Formats: sequence, C-alpha cells, structure tokens
Amino acid sequence: MRKIQDKFEIGFRHAESMYDEIFEPIKIGKKESKNRVIFPPLSTNFGREDGHLSELFIKHYETRAKGGVGLLIVENSCVSYPEGKHGAYEPRIDSWDFYEDWRTIAKRLKKYDSLISVELTHQGWGKKGVNFLSEKKK
Ligand SMILES: Cc1cc2nc3c(=O)[nH]c(=O)nc-3n(C[C@H](O)[C@H](O)[C@H](O)COP(=O)(O)O)c2cc1C
Repeated sequence: MRKIQDKFEIGFRHAESMYDEIFEPIKIGKKESKNRVIFPPLSTNFGREDGHLSELFIKHYETRAKGGVGLLIVENSCVSYPEGKHGAYEPRIDSWDFYEDWRTIAKRLKKYDSLISVELTHQGWGKKGVNFLSEKKK
C-alpha cells in the first residue's frame, strides 16, 4: 500500500502543474504584478468612524502583502462625503485630509513588492430614498 506521504506528494505535484502560472508575473497596464494572486475587496469595518485608516486596517492589508499577494484591492472607499458613504467604518478617499493615510498604506505594502489598488465606491441614490427598482412604469 502506498504511504500517505507519497499520496500527498503526487497530489501536490498535480496541483503544482495545474496552477503553475499563478506564481508567474503578469503585466497589468504599465505595472507588473509579481504573481497572479489577487486579494479582492472585502469590507472589514477596520476603518475609523471619521474615515481615516486605523493601524488595524493597515496591518490587515500589510499581513496579506507579507503573505505574498501580488495585487491587493483595498475595500470600498468613499469618493464623495457625506452622501456617498454607506458604511460606518468605510475608509474615505474624497479629500486631501486622507492623503497621509493612503500614502502610509501604499508605502507599507510596497515593502513587500505588492501592487495596491483601491475600490472607489459611492452609495448612489440609496440614501436619498430613491429605489429605482420599485418605481412604477409610466
Ligand atoms: C465579508 C465580505 C465583505 C465584502 N466586501 C466587499 C467590498 O467591500 N467590496 C466588494 O466589491 N466586494 C465585497 N465582497 C465581495 C467579495 O469581494 C467577493 O466575495 C470575492 O471577490 C469572492 O468572489 P466570489 O464571492 O464571487 O467567489 C465582500 C464579501 C464578503 C464575504
């Protein structure tokens, strides 16, 4: 009977060949990502209530970068305040007041050679109570 280690070894080799390219660099426009591992935007609620980035928020992304992610997409960031904000702890990127926060996170992720991008969000007409889906046709 084959040893359990051998079974794992064969499974691992198979997975390796299936996903070879995941660890190959890829060009995205003028940038190059060191691999094809992308961390999608996931709201954490780790931001501060005033829209600034907390140390926990930065650390969360830094840990992913340290783990080897090629491209990180930072969650759900408010582009127009107050009407565009829809989460109590959503980071803000709508004014120069937040420049230092974003500079800090970019610098900390760059240490690990990860690319960083930001998901820009606006909550649309929701806050004004407009629900296009429920409007009756005229
Ligand atoms: C807890 C949680 C938070 C999320 N936050 C965001 C977010 O801020 N922005 C976004 O575009 N998607 C968000 N998503 C969706 C994830 O990005 C999505 O689930 C992920 O890309 C994986 O894709 P899949 O669910 O289609 O497999 C969130 C998902 C979860 C589970």
